[in-house]
Amino acid sequence: MEEGHLPVLAEEVITMLAPASGSLQIDATVGGGGHTERILEATDPDGRLLGLDADGAAIARVRARLARFGDRLVLRQANFRDLGRVAPEAGFTAVDGLLFDLGLSSFQLADAERGFGIRTGGPLDMRFDPSRGVPAAELLARLDAAELAALFRRYGEEPFAGRIARAIVEERRRAPVDTAERLAALVERVVPASPRGRRRIHPATRVFQALRIAVNDELGALETALAAGVDLLRPGGRLVVLSYHSLEDRIVKRFIEAERKGCICPPEVPVCVCGRRPRLRPVGKPITPGERELAVNPRARSARLRAAERIAA
Ligand SMILES: C[S@@+](CC[C@H](N)C(=O)[O-])C[C@H]1O[C@@H](n2cnc3c(N)ncnc32)[C@H](O)[C@@H]1O
Repeated sequence: MEEGHLPVLAEEVITMLAPASGSLQIDATVGGGGHTERILEATDPDGRLLGLDADGAAIARVRARLARFGDRLVLRQANFRDLGRVAPEAGFTAVDGLLFDLGLSSFQLADAERGFGIRTGGPLDMRFDPSRGVPAAELLARLDAAELAALFRRYGEEPFAGRIARAIVEERRRAPVDTAERLAALVERVVPASPRGRRRIHPATRVFQALRIAVNDELGALETALAAGVDLLRPGGRLVVLSYHSLEDRIVKRFIEAERKGCICPPEVPVCVCGRRPRLRPVGKPITPGERELAVNPRARSARLRAAERIAA
């Protein structure tokens, strides 16, 4: 049993990937290793899995916890946007299954050094890989009010984006907004209170989400990785993606739809000139967790699973 992070829709992921003995699998987001472990068990005795995570702490933890799988498990600290290079380098091409379980793990959320959690607090870093890029506190210190508002609107769909952005710019003249506690308190102060009992999420949830997406260029990384992923799947291989908010899910849905259609010629062109052929077939309908799972794992609340199968192009 994995401590700290319960894998979301674990049975459904296995049903969709249908991992067989001897197969090649990629888990692009190992996190706590929950899905990785189940896939390795399902591909016993000789299936192999390449596991990636941008977070070196996740890789180290999973390496220790799943050492019993020996060389069936290959781990790399890497951003999945580099999948097209990292997988072939590790000997993984024509793979049978590719999983993305997006967002952050319970380990990261609970780590007070990283600033992911509204209630956990800590310095506002929010990088999956703290050795690269710019921490969230730096964005809050550097961007002007219009840029901050655009960020909160675009990545958080935050209705009070302008008001929050202006409050940040005003506040930082006195003191930096550089901890999760300060940012959460500021948002709580400027956003109108929702009617009693109506509030389901903390008022700063959307702002935290927006910052995390921006800091890690999460949507750009996902688009790049999906494109590289289809190239890596063998015909019959399965792609499974778990997303946790509508921006991610929209990208996955549109990607699968575009690869289902293939041709990108405008409708007025009488015959196809682009030469692009369908490469994916959607498998089943999107899946969301049921009551039973949500009762033991509330973090799964917003999860949505989409699956597709590679077809010979
Ligand atoms: C929801 S967790 C995965 C949990 C995992 N499936 C399990 O069962 O324990 C998401 C993980 O993906 C990683 N991650 C997010 N974006 C990434 C990216 N662009 N490249 C590599 N890893 C990423 C995070 O660091 C985090 O550890």
